Amino acid sequence: MVVGGGRGIGRAAALALAREGADVAVLARTAAELEACAAEARALGRKALAVPADVTDLTALDAALARVRTELGAPTLLVLGAAALYRPQKLQHVEDAEVAQFLAVDVQSAVAVCKRILPGMLEARFGRIVGLGSVAARTGVSGGTLYAAGKAALEGLLRGIALDYSRRGITANVCAIAFAETERLRVRIAGDPAHREKLQSATATRAIPTAEQIADVVAFLCSAQASVITGAVIDATAGAHLNNLW
Ligand SMILES: NC(=O)c1ccc[n+]([C@@H]2O[C@H](COP(=O)([O-])OP(=O)(O)OC[C@H]3O[C@@H](n4cnc5c(N)ncnc54)[C@H](OP(=O)(O)O)[C@@H]3O)[C@@H](O)[C@H]2O)c1
Repeated sequence: MVVGGGRGIGRAAALALAREGADVAVLARTAAELEACAAEARALGRKALAVPADVTDLTALDAALARVRTELGAPTLLVLGAAALYRPQKLQHVEDAEVAQFLAVDVQSAVAVCKRILPGMLEARFGRIVGLGSVAARTGVSGGTLYAAGKAALEGLLRGIALDYSRRGITANVCAIAFAETERLRVRIAGDPAHREKLQSATATRAIPTAEQIADVVAFLCSAQASVITGAVIDATAGAHLNNLW
């Protein structure tokens, strides 16, 4: 199950997992994007379910999970990819309502989903949880204080789950991204080619990763072969976490 699987890295992760043989459920708010992703997964020969829901609405989340359990079975692989889009601004200017909305998407929903999915994983004695995190959890990001705080919370959440559940076959890790070629990034750097060059030169590879390249790392963390990686933050940054200034 991929939360935030309608587009971008979540969508690419759903398709990478389908290619590896997983049936997939994708959850986000935009039904058309989910349907398109599910159709692609079906074309790969897998069962796929589009479950439109706002992850901050717990009633809708419970209904979506009930559908997934009935139609595909309880999820044993979980990718947490939903994140709110934020307007870059310093914390003193962020309205309380915006703070609450942001934390509901980026933090509370991750807790709510994990809490609900863990019992099925315990029953299966197998589970993989991968959070799509950011180097911002460690570096902070100017104008994105809440974003960085949310990603740090995601790391803490998955470390705690790793400690409590790994002995039952359930691993939990963060795939930390610096930037990837998705709509989110295109919006951020729209009309500013210099910004793209700056990001490219911040990588060690001199290339901004594609959503598919990040998704391959997510798929590996979801695999049986990754059984000893738990409680980890894996940098899928093309070296951008090295703060490549020189
Ligand atoms: N792209 C980057 O450069 C980058 C860098 C660092 C970290 N990341 C992280 O990687 C993840 C994916 O990034 P991306 O660029 O692929 O993001 P994206 O294109 O913005 O996609 C986010 C997905 O989350 C869904 N979503 C957002 N709010 C939701 C809500 N309330 N309920 C249900 N679904 C919701 C969106 O669908 P709807 O809007 O239809 O609901 C969409 O499917 C995010 O967690 C992001 O913070 C990305």
